[in-house]
Amino acid sequence: MTKKKKELIVTSALPYANGPLHFGHLLEHIQTDIWVRSQRILGNKVIYLCASDAHGTPIMMKAEEEKTSPEELVSKYMIEHKNTLKNFQVLHDCYYQTHSEENRKYSELIYNRAFENGYIQKKNIKQLFDEEKKLFLADRYVRGTCPKCNAENQYGDNCDACGAKYEATDLINPVSVFSEKTPIIKESEHLFFSLTKLEEEIKTWIDKSSLHENVINKLQEWFKDGLMDWDISRDAPYFGFKIPGFEDKFFYVWLDAPIGYIGTLEKYLKEIGSRDTAETLWGEDSNFEIYHFIGKDILNFHALFWPALLHAANFKKPSNVFVHGFLTLNGNKMSKSKGNFLLADQYTEILESDFLRYYLASKLTNKIDDIDLNLDDLQKKVNTDLVGKFINIASRVQKFLKIKGNKLGNNLEDELVDKCISEAKDIYEDFKDLNYSNACKRIMKLADIANQYVDHNEPWVLAKENVNEKEVIKIASTALNLFRILNICLEPIIPNTAFKIKQYLNIPKDSLENIEIKLTNHEIREFKPLMMRIEDEKIKFLKEASTNG
Ligand code: MSP
Ligand code: ZN
Repeated sequence: MTKKKKELIVTSALPYANGPLHFGHLLEHIQTDIWVRSQRILGNKVIYLCASDAHGTPIMMKAEEEKTSPEELVSKYMIEHKNTLKNFQVLHDCYYQTHSEENRKYSELIYNRAFENGYIQKKNIKQLFDEEKKLFLADRYVRGTCPKCNAENQYGDNCDACGAKYEATDLINPVSVFSEKTPIIKESEHLFFSLTKLEEEIKTWIDKSSLHENVINKLQEWFKDGLMDWDISRDAPYFGFKIPGFEDKFFYVWLDAPIGYIGTLEKYLKEIGSRDTAETLWGEDSNFEIYHFIGKDILNFHALFWPALLHAANFKKPSNVFVHGFLTLNGNKMSKSKGNFLLADQYTEILESDFLRYYLASKLTNKIDDIDLNLDDLQKKVNTDLVGKFINIASRVQKFLKIKGNKLGNNLEDELVDKCISEAKDIYEDFKDLNYSNACKRIMKLADIANQYVDHNEPWVLAKENVNEKEVIKIASTALNLFRILNICLEPIIPNTAFKIKQYLNIPKDSLENIEIKLTNHEIREFKPLMMRIEDEKIKFLKEASTNG
């Protein structure tokens, strides 16, 4: 019986369009892409979406700094990000941006529905205002003395020294980072989304979704602290969408950013000439399952505000939100100013994308723990596992088939091959559960078994005598069958290499679906080296790049 194929919408968080992508972004996109590929290999239909997050004050400021418009800045980075990700084999079905007509349409629609359903309220709030710059100051644009411990030079939301949380207006001697002047306190009317009214609905969603227990625990903490209504408006000047019915009020970037997932879906549907709209696929009764991949820093937006907003506007809520930890570099937080930082593009000039993908996969689990990228460790992992164990299977037996015109025999060590096939199917369960680290361990265990099989049978000794020819062919053919099974397991992680191997094995369409069909009496191509060891020099080069700030 064939299982019913599922239809999935999968997203990675939308990177801000004000700078190049770094290794932290790669962690997320590679994690998502491996999942998308494994879901497709399992036979499910996936629409994988992402976009540039275009709005907000930092992007407006960055454009001003670069003497360009925010629109141009965003379009530039949108193209750049898309190319960078492509170089790591992260293949979205659509990579768009949030400053688009599609996103405006859905932002207004969702806001209007939330408004009609009684979830939007007006309140007057007091904020710090830079009179010279004519700008209300977001928390990160004001510095001052902590009202609790008197530590100087603290941001407007919390104190680095004592951890106190406060309002920017509570800071002692506040100073605007733009004008260096003391801001005034100014009142303005803001729009609030009534998160508090939707607490029960969010809790019901949490119970129904399959969120990881780490994520649920974090959410419980927030419920315990008490939810608050959410300020979704910003005063001009602001780069964003105008709020319907107001002249100089804009949606806060975090209101329209997740709606950007829906806007991007609409763009995708237009591009493929579909008659569906995003509203149908994301509607309350849609059969599509929705999965978001995010970092732990933006969990509140995706697991509190977002499901609440979708509920308020009668859209479908996510089936799950997958949360990863942060990537650290050589044991320390990534920081450009501290000389511990790697841009995505710095890597692709030096090493193959599959290497990083494998290394990150070998460390990724479904937990929120941070993950360290250590360049020496990456070199060791790739050289030992991929080159030394996996590729080695093929390179050490291929020569024994040459005499037979590169043709696999029809006699195999069936029991061993069958065992491997059944393990391979099970390894895909680890992919489903985001336990890539475990999948890698199991795949390498199988590679060990394949190598031990060759070691034990010593084809190089047997090959010295003509009478052993059949036996030698059997050993080489069995080893290459195992190699092919491992390749099917590794495909979501190292797609470029997997493709090359399928060419070599002369089975371009090979996949999990036909894994049971063994390769016998089958001609393969001339062997060419499939992967090279990482030399010390390249690692040295990357280390230098990472410390050059
Ligand atoms: N624009 C928002 C997301 C909007 S989604 C509707 C944003 N952008 S971001 O560029 O700052 O981050 C994008 C993603 O990268 C987030 O999921 C974030 O957690 C992730 N990461 C950013 N730095 C990271 C690391 N050092 N390590 C792992 N992930 C990191 O937030
Ligand atoms: Zn303090």
